[in-house]
Amino acid sequence: VVESPAGPRLGEVPDPLPGPGDALVRVEAAGLNFLDLRTWRSGRVPAGMEGAGTIAALPGGADDGLAVGDRVAWAMQPGAFAELAAVPRGSLVPVPAATSAELAAGALLQGMTAICLAEDCHRVGAGEAVLVHAAGSGVGSLLTQCCSALGARVLGTTSTAERAELAHADGAASAVGYEGFAAAARAFTEGAGVSAVFDGINRATFHEDLLALRRGGSLVLFGEASGRVDPIDPKLLQKHGSLRLVYPGLAHFIADREELRARSAAVFRAVEAGTLRPRVTTMPLAEVGAALAAMAERRGSGKVVLLI
Ligand SMILES: NC(=O)c1ccc[n+]([C@@H]2O[C@H](COP(=O)([O-])OP(=O)(O)OC[C@H]3O[C@@H](n4cnc5c(N)ncnc54)[C@H](OP(=O)(O)O)[C@@H]3O)[C@@H](O)[C@H]2O)c1
Repeated sequence: VVESPAGPRLGEVPDPLPGPGDALVRVEAAGLNFLDLRTWRSGRVPAGMEGAGTIAALPGGADDGLAVGDRVAWAMQPGAFAELAAVPRGSLVPVPAATSAELAAGALLQGMTAICLAEDCHRVGAGEAVLVHAAGSGVGSLLTQCCSALGARVLGTTSTAERAELAHADGAASAVGYEGFAAAARAFTEGAGVSAVFDGINRATFHEDLLALRRGGSLVLFGEASGRVDPIDPKLLQKHGSLRLVYPGLAHFIADREELRARSAAVFRAVEAGTLRPRVTTMPLAEVGAALAAMAERRGSGKVVLLI
């Protein structure tokens, strides 16, 4: 994918040259993420931060359990919006035989994020009430599925009735619009407030999040779809009931190769078991500009996977 006056489009560029620590991957499918939109908005061409395909070459020979011909996927490394990508070997994970490249690229990044949010950043427990913002989004949909599978009662927010329906299908007990969502969270919990708010929207929702939480609850920020909230006084957290505030980034949870392998394996197991059910819409890579525009305008739902 290269830049053009009309936005990203397909073009010919030289094949990437893998370094000694890289593998050359023939890409079959690439996941579209909000990260790509941020790159595009900042005036750069999105490179594609999530892909799946087959190892075409391993300079220096096979090692690390990787061999030419292996089916692999990766997340949080650039290069997926192309036929060939040079990817650091340490970032590649094996894809189970039963999982298509399309599903692997549709599940990996957002699946690891969702599991990390629900199991590491706030340990969601059975019977807890939690609020998931943008429940019809890529991460939001998988997070709703995760929290429901862990036995939580999920209240989702969405901007359209269609996405609210999807949230219900993903296991949300209730789905509401953004207007007055803290009051809805209070009503959902007979006045107590929810145990955790998962918020990838940030600026537009942050201050109302504090009103939705119960005493000692967790505000888990993980994105900035509406921009970044202005600096806050930490005392606010005490004032609203001794709250916890965390802002995790997936990269820190997969920095170590063993951890990446364990987290990716957990995603593929959950996909095989049906606990994680990515809502994948496929498009040819040539549609990347249209797919980014739809994301910017909050159209569509779930996950877009671009087929190479
Ligand atoms: N921390 C991490 O490691 C990590 C990893 C992956 C993703 N993320 C973050 O998670 C968030 C969701 O990512 P995604 O890939 O799931 O993207 P996505 O599918 O495009 O979801 C973004 C959603 O945000 C909602 N939204 C609310 N206000 C918005 C606004 N002003 N502009 C655009 N969207 C708005 C929209 O849903 P409604 O229209 O229904 O509100 C939209 O569907 C992003 O902020 C992303 O950066 C973080």
